[in-house]
This record gives sequence, structure tokens and C-alpha cells, in this order.
Amino acid sequence: MSRIPQNFIDDLVARADIVEVIGSRVPLKKKGREYAACCPFHHEKSPSFFVSPDKQFYHCFGCGAHGTALGFLMAFERLDFVEAVETLAGQMGLEVPREGGDAPTESPHAPLFAVLEDCARFYQAQLRRTPVAIDYLKRRGVSGDTAATFGLGHAPAGFDTLLTALHADSTTVDQLKRAGMLSEGERGGLYDRFRERIMFPIRDRRGRVIAFGGRVLGDEKPKYLNSPETPLFHKGHELYGLYEARKALGRPDRLIVVEGYMDVVMLAQHGLREAVATLGTAVTREQVDLMFRHTAQVVFCFDGDEAGRRAAWRALESTLPQLRDGLDARFMFLPDGEDPDSLVRKEGAEAFRARISRDALSFDAFLLGELAKQAQDDGSPASRARLKSLALPMIQGMPNGVLKDLVLDALAGRVGVPVDRLRDEPRGAGEARRAPATVAPANTEAGRSTVLRQAILLLLHHPELAGLRPCPPEWAESPVPGLPLLSQLLHLLSARPVSMGVILERFRDSPHAQALDALTRLRPPRDSEDEAIRVPMWHAMLEHISDMHNRKRLHDLTNRPLSELQATERSELIRLQNLRLTKGRK
Ligand code: CTP
Ligand code: MN
Repeated sequence: MSRIPQNFIDDLVARADIVEVIGSRVPLKKKGREYAACCPFHHEKSPSFFVSPDKQFYHCFGCGAHGTALGFLMAFERLDFVEAVETLAGQMGLEVPREGGDAPTESPHAPLFAVLEDCARFYQAQLRRTPVAIDYLKRRGVSGDTAATFGLGHAPAGFDTLLTALHADSTTVDQLKRAGMLSEGERGGLYDRFRERIMFPIRDRRGRVIAFGGRVLGDEKPKYLNSPETPLFHKGHELYGLYEARKALGRPDRLIVVEGYMDVVMLAQHGLREAVATLGTAVTREQVDLMFRHTAQVVFCFDGDEAGRRAAWRALESTLPQLRDGLDARFMFLPDGEDPDSLVRKEGAEAFRARISRDALSFDAFLLGELAKQAQDDGSPASRARLKSLALPMIQGMPNGVLKDLVLDALAGRVGVPVDRLRDEPRGAGEARRAPATVAPANTEAGRSTVLRQAILLLLHHPELAGLRPCPPEWAESPVPGLPLLSQLLHLLSARPVSMGVILERFRDSPHAQALDALTRLRPPRDSEDEAIRVPMWHAMLEHISDMHNRKRLHDLTNRPLSELQATERSELIRLQNLRLTKGRK
């Protein structure tokens, strides 16, 4: 298996600007030498999340979340380590090198990605040679550029076109089947799932094809056919067009959520490249979570009819529990008989944008408006009580924050109950808050740390200390717990002082990773911020540690029979005994 070279990761973390990496995802405010924000990993009203450019490290004093730029990407975007490295490198325009193997680290799904890529290429090639398909797209106003951007294709008629085109052997057949590209007949025969359809490849956030949607060219039924659930594709977890939106815009200011493939494609063609679609399902929590990982504002577009309002309500239910401060959700209903595709073709992009600014309801207006209808709110006490009992559990399900308070205020005004009474009402059947999985309670027992822990802590915060004195070689194998780690750190840092972030990434896979990680939650002694104190403090610590090591070695060596000791150990014993004598005489 190939690996990413360690010095590339060192370099990446050293050169990455953690303020930029985090700042492009969470609004940061400068505070002295650090940057502060409300923590994205737990709900809070005042900022206890700090990012240090010097240390290339972030830390939340509220929930204990902490780590490097890579760790942040892993936690915030839910990436694995390699994905985080690739994302960070991509952002910096660097290619990730591999060493020690011929192929990049293969996931078990790699062959499925490959076979789907082949299918997508086949369908694209087929489109170019199928005039009826080209005509269909032209009639719908799709430009050649747009077709290329979205990788549109055409699945030809026939039942074994993929099998023939890919020269499928039994392995490929199996992969095509697992990737959802083949249907199984009653007698077990396998044939093309998609036939005579315009093909829309669905890509994951890294741009890999994971599924397809296919539309008939005429009025046949079903109009759209999608890939089934496969190991790569879980419909409720994906957003069509998200990859393309991110590719065009980086981190978009907002996402426009629509229902159909053609809506996304045509909005993008008109310059609204922030459109994504939910693949014909009710909006799930996973999809909302995915949206808010890539933007702070979501505008849901739905049909104005009864079905559209029901769908919007489902979207609201999926959204409310995730609406933390700083995020925003809006709901727009389209005129009868129109969808975003037809509207943007008719009115153009500017009118569509203006429509959003003018017509989109804030989530609380939509929430209270719908519930008032449901409660038949006519201002009577009974209807107000109905409204309150409908709305309160939904609002209680929101993360605590200013946003939630504002909605409570709005409800209080509407039903004529003091807001404090609403706030204090016990939670009903609402859902328990989901705790973030990535955080652990902060350790505040800095005062109890041993000298060794203190020394390592000091070194993490002031790596330049490593250059002040040489590290005795015998510390590498010291029986004193923690000393081999300190020794490794000293060797790493005396060559070149690097930030805490680089150190942590260097030790990510080492047996010391956990110990180091625990230390990052502690603050070094306050007075160590002053260099005039820090340097003598460091020397004193190392003297003490040296003593600890010597005493422990002396103890271990004296407790072993002299005959068993090797020559080097005997001379070490003599040296240690003399040392002790010297010390004793002082
Ligand atoms: N859809 C689906 N399966 C269907 C019908 C619809 O998966 N049988 C999904 C598709 O993602 C489709 C979306 O729901 O794009 C919206 O469907 P619909 O409003 O019926 O179609 P349009 O998007 O308007 O399609 P078109 O403009 O191509 O007629
Ligand atoms: Mn349509």
C-alpha cells in the first residue's frame, strides 16, 4: 500500500494557514494574536473557540474540541485523514505525492468508482452520436458547455450495451451489478438498467460518479429512473450538483435547493451555479447537514401547490434541529405550473435572483405561518393555545442560541405569553439534542501535571526551546514514562522548530498520539509567556528530568546482579554513582 510521505504532511501543515482554512468555513474575529468564533462543534452564544496562527492549532474552551488544520477538516467536513490531506493540498494547489507502492491506497469501492466512470464516459460518447438526444437537449435549451460541465450523456437502446461497450468479463459484470447499472430478469439474466434515456451522472463531493439519473426523451413512464441504493450511493445522503457548485464557486454564499436535475442544470447555465437538487426525495437531515457543511444559507425552492408546501414542511422539519446561530434557511414557493428550469428560461437569472430576495420566507415566518393556518389561528385564546402547542416542540428542537431566542420571541408575541414562560416550559416529545461526536470534555487539571508533562507542554507551545540544550541520547530509551516522547520531540524540533500543528500531525499514528493530544488541552503555566521566565524555567525542568532519569537508571541497574550487566551498562552504573556523589557533595 502506498502512503503519503511524512515530510509532505509536515510541509502541508506548516504551510497551510489554519486561519484561512477555518476562516473560510466559520466566521472568525481577530482577538489579540488569536482568532475567535462561536464553536462550530457545540452550541454557544459567546465565542470560546480560538484559532492560533502561531501554533497552527485550534481549541474550544467550551467543549474541548481541538486540533490542527487537518483535524479541523476531518471533524468539520467529516473527512478521513487522506481526504483531509487531499482537500487541504487541493486548496493550496498541491499534488499529493505517494510513496512505497505502485497504486494509491485503494478503498474496497475503488473498482466500482472506476466502472461508473467508464459508464459515464460511454454515455457521453453515445450522446455525441445520437441526434435525437442532442435535439432533445437543444430543445430544452441546454448548451454544449453545460452538457459537458454536468457530464450529460445518453444511454442507447438495447439490453447489453454496457456489457458490450466495456468488454465486460465476469468481474466487470459483477462490478456493474454492484454499482447498480444492471437489472436482473426473472430468469436471472442481467441487462442494462438505463435504456434510451438522457443520463445525469451523480457525483460525490470529490467529483467521482456514484450513480445516475436518467430521463426519457418523450412521455414514456417512468419519466426519471435513478440508480438503486448501492455501496456508493445512498440517495438520502447526496445532493445532485453539489460537486459542480463547489467546483464553480468554492464555498458558495448560499445553496439553492431545487427538486429536479434539469432545474440544477438550467439554473447553473444561467449563472446560478449554487443550485443543488435532492434527487426526488423528501429533504433528509443528512442532506441538510451536508448543505450546511458547505454554506451558511440555504434557500429551498418548492412548487407553490399543496404537494410543494408539504415537501417544504418536511424540509423545515429536517432543518430546524440543525439551525445554529450563523446559519439561515429560507423557503420560496414558485408560481403555479412553474419550476426553476421553466422560470429561469422565461425570466432570466436576474429576475430569479430578485424573486428569491423578494419572495423567500424566513424559516420562522414559514414555520409560524403554516402552524397558524393549521391551528386556525383567529386570535382566540383556544387557537393561540393550539398554535403554542404546535410550535413550541419544534422550536425547542432547535440548537440553543440567539436564533432560537428570536423565534421564541416571535411565538411569544403571537400567542401573548411572556417569552420566559415559553422558555421554561419543559421539553415535550422533541428530540434529544445530538451531541457532536468529535469532542471530549476539556481537561482543566493543568496544575496536577508532572514535570515531564509540563516540559512537553511548554515545548509544544514554544518549540524553539528545543535548540537551547542538547538532548542526552540515553533519553530515547529512558524508563521514565514520557521521557522517550520528550526525546523524540527534542530531536524533531532541534533540527527545525515547527508549530504545534505540525508536531501533532507528525505524531498522528505514533503510540504517543493520545498522550500528546491530551496535553494540547492544557495551557502552559501562565508566567511562561514571559521569555525571561520561560528560559530558566525550561532549564530547571530539564535538570529535574535529567535527575529523574539518572535516579531511575541507577535504581534499575543496582537492582540487577552485577554479573548480568553488559560492559556499557557497568560503565553507565559507575558514571551514575559518581554523579550522585558529586551531587551529594554539593
Ligand atoms: N424524480 C424521480 N423519479 C420520478 C420523477 C421525478 O426521481 N419518477 C425526481 C427527479 O430528480 C426529477 C425531480 O424528481 O428531476 C422532479 O421531478 P418532476 O418535477 O416530475 O420533473 P422535472 O424536474 O420538472 O423534469 P423535467 O423538467 O425533465 O420534465
Ligand atoms: Mn421541469
